[in-house]
Amino acid sequence: MRSMKSPRVTVVGSANVDLTFRTTNLPKPGETAFGTDFFQGFGGKGANQAVAAARLGANVAFVAKVGDDEYGQAIRRQLETEGINLDYLGIDGERPTGIAAILVDAQGENVIVGVPGANLGLTPADVVAAGDLLRRSRIVLAPCETTIETLTEAFAIAHAAGVMCILNPAPARELPEELLKNIDLCVPNESELRTLTSRPTETLEEIAIAANWLRERGPKHVIVTLGSRGALIVGAEGSTHVPGNSVRAIDTSGAGDAFCGALATYLADGDSLHEAARKANVVASISVTRAGTQASFPRQAEIAN
Ligand code: RIB
Repeated sequence: MRSMKSPRVTVVGSANVDLTFRTTNLPKPGETAFGTDFFQGFGGKGANQAVAAARLGANVAFVAKVGDDEYGQAIRRQLETEGINLDYLGIDGERPTGIAAILVDAQGENVIVGVPGANLGLTPADVVAAGDLLRRSRIVLAPCETTIETLTEAFAIAHAAGVMCILNPAPARELPEELLKNIDLCVPNESELRTLTSRPTETLEEIAIAANWLRERGPKHVIVTLGSRGALIVGAEGSTHVPGNSVRAIDTSGAGDAFCGALATYLADGDSLHEAARKANVVASISVTRAGTQASFPRQAEIAN
């Protein structure tokens, strides 16, 4: 067990085993496609974000559930090697470990089907049990692959203690007022923002309008990730575009998680939103040049930030 020194970043979220299939073109409904490659790796948006942060040197804790099976044991071992505090990585005796099928095409674009399994076994009572850990964090970060009730409880505890709460609304789902009011920073991509707001998100102007609609419901800031176009930071002070980095993408899966984990790390270090987003963009753009999700995330030593 790791020391109980305060984690700078605590991730409340999901852990999966990822089964990645590469194919030239993604099959359409009813089609069968020849694949070009297959590999198994570790994923889940929460675990990915925790690993991205840990590889950049953050002191990270992970609050989640895996199944009582071989995949769950393998995930635990993997996260231990990353030096992540797993005091609150529980076991769900009923459900299997979460699993995801990821299809990646020749351009690096992906589609994902995740079966959450044990991730849905993380209950509000589990995060209450982790309350001290949440309160001692500098930042609590969560994607939306656990139940909304659990996320709402985690953010209520952290926010009441003055801890910065970052929500990555992926996959996009309806967010209740009790959760929205405790979000300091919301980090959707363009399509998640469109789903959350039912507003167009084609141009930067439309994205800023949709992000402000979201801000009026709680989050103080919204950072919209735009893939190769970078990110748009939207707050009461206006909106700022952080340009993207030009790279040759081979696999974009997990890039949003790399961005969120890096963003939380740099914010916990005291960077401004703009500087943290700029550096997180660099981390995400390195990740898309490599295959896999966690397997693609860089360590701080590889980054010229
Ligand atoms: O964001 C990528 C992640 O989404 C994958 O690792 C997969 O497990 C799903 O959770």
